[in-house]
Amino acid sequence: MSNHDLAIVILAAGKGTRLKSSRAKVLHRAGGRTLVEQVVRSCVPLKARETVVVVGHQAEQVAALVEPLGAVAALQQPQNGTGRAMQVARRPLGRAKSALVLPGDAPLVRPETLKALIAAHHNGNAAATILTAVLADPAGYGRILRKSETAVSAIVEESKLTDEQREINEINSAIYCFTLEKLWPALSQVKPNNKHRELYLTDAIGVMASKGEIVLAQVASDPREVLGCNTRADLAEVDRVFRERKRDALMDAGVTIQLPETVLIDPDVTAGEDTVIEPGVQLLGKTKIGARCTIRTGSVLNDAILGDDVTVEPHCVVAQSRLDDRVIIGPFARLRPDNHLKADSRIGNFVELKKSTIGEGTKAMHLSYLGDTKIGSKSNIGAGTITCNYDGFHKYPTTIGNKVFIGSDSALVAPVRIGDGAYIAGRFLHFPREFSSVYLAHRQHISVWIRTLNFSLRHIFCPASSCPVRIPRACVKIRVLAKLLGAATA
Ligand code: UD1
Ligand code: MG
Repeated sequence: MSNHDLAIVILAAGKGTRLKSSRAKVLHRAGGRTLVEQVVRSCVPLKARETVVVVGHQAEQVAALVEPLGAVAALQQPQNGTGRAMQVARRPLGRAKSALVLPGDAPLVRPETLKALIAAHHNGNAAATILTAVLADPAGYGRILRKSETAVSAIVEESKLTDEQREINEINSAIYCFTLEKLWPALSQVKPNNKHRELYLTDAIGVMASKGEIVLAQVASDPREVLGCNTRADLAEVDRVFRERKRDALMDAGVTIQLPETVLIDPDVTAGEDTVIEPGVQLLGKTKIGARCTIRTGSVLNDAILGDDVTVEPHCVVAQSRLDDRVIIGPFARLRPDNHLKADSRIGNFVELKKSTIGEGTKAMHLSYLGDTKIGSKSNIGAGTITCNYDGFHKYPTTIGNKVFIGSDSALVAPVRIGDGAYIAGRFLHFPREFSSVYLAHRQHISVWIRTLNFSLRHIFCPASSCPVRIPRACVKIRVLAKLLGAATA
C-alpha cells in the first residue's frame, strides 16, 4: 500500500486536566514548539494523503497552528474519549485505506520510527500495529497484553490493571497504524465502560484481537520517543530530551557547547563550525550564528543574525538584530529589536540599542542609550551618550556621520543630524523650555548659553536649513553654531 492510501490522525481535543492549566494540553510547549506542532512536524516527512487533527479544547487556537502545516482540523464536541475522537476523524479521512494515529501529547516520536511502524503494519498484513515501549517505570500508561511472541490480545488502561498486569512494563504509546476497514466495525462495538464514561480507542484493539484479526506490536528502540505529556513533570522531561537532541545536532555540526545541559537552544537555531557556546546561554527563535563566534555565559539571543567571528561577551540580551562579522558586544549589552551592527563595530557594557545602525568600526563602549539612530563608520560614541529620541509624544531620529567623536555624557535631542568628522567635546544639557537654553561644554569646561525666543528645543537643534549641523572643534566657533541656529548668544 502506498502512502497515497495512508492518512494521519492526531488526537488533540483533550483538555489535559492533569496539567492544571487554563490552556489546552497540546498548546503547551516542549522543545521550543507547541506539542501539537511537534507531532504534526514529525508526520510531514511521511507525505500522507491527509493529516487530520481532532480538536476540541481551544479548538480555534489548535487549528490555527496546524492548518499552516497542511493539516485539516476536525471538531470533537464533547471530548468523550480517544475512540470518539477517532470516529470524528472518519469523514475527513476520505478514501484512505489505513491511518497512522498519534496522540497530540507525545511529541518526541521521530519520522523514521513512524515509517518503520507503517512498514511493519503493511508487511504483517495487520488490522492494527501498536508502537510500544518497554519502560522501567510504566506507571500511568496502558499496558500491552500479548497472546504470543508477536501478537497482542488487548491494551489495559492503568485504572483497570490487576496486580499481575501492573508488573507488565511494555506500554501503549497510543501511536498505532490501523487498517481502517477493520477498525471502524471494531470501534462501533466498543462500550464506554470506564468511570469517565468515555469511549477508548484502546478497547478497539481487544475487539479486533478477539475477532481473530492480526494485531501486532512494534517495540520502539528508544523508549524516550513515546513519552507522553500528562503532567508538568512529563513536559519538563520531554523538553529536556528535545533540547538535548538539538544540542547534539549542533555539536555534530562542529559547534562546541560547554556544559551542554545548561544551554537552551530552540529548534530553528543554526550555528557555524568552531563557534563556542558557553554555559547558561539561550539561543532562541530563528537565531543564526556564523562560524568561529563566541557566545559567552548568560547571554540570551532571540531571532539574532550573527556573521562570522562575532563575540558576545557575558550577559548580553539581543533581540531581532543583525551583527556582522567581527562585531563584539558586551558584557551586559542590551540590543532591543531592529539593530544592525556593521562589521568590526563594538558595543560595550551597559549600552542599550534600539532600531539603530552602527557603522563599520564604530564604537559605543560604555553606558549609552542609542535609539532610532544611524551612525556611520569609525565614529566613537563616548560614555554616557544618550539619544533623546522621545518627547513624550513622538519618536525622532538621530543621524551621526562617519568619523564623528561624541564626548562623554552628551544628550543628543532628536531629531538631530551630526555631520562627518564632527567633534562634540563634552555634554549637552537642555533646560526647561522657558529658558530655551542650551549648555554646551567642551574639553576646557567653557560653557556658552544660547538663548532663544519662541523656539522649541527641536528647532534649536535641527532647523532644516542648517542640517547637518556640524559642531566645530574649537569653542570660538560656537558663534557659527549659534548663527546656524538663528539664535543669539548670551
Ligand atoms: C492514552 C492511552 C494509553 C497510553 C497513553 C500514551 C487511551 C484510552 N489511553 O492515555 O493507553 O498509554 O495515551 O501516552 O487512549 N483526546 C482527544 N479526545 C478525547 C480524549 C483525548 O482528542 O476525548 C486526545 C488528547 O488530547 C491527547 C490524546 O488524545 O492528545 C491522548 O489522551 P490522554 O488523555 O493524554 O490519554 P492518556 O491517559 O495519556
Ligand atoms: Mg496522554
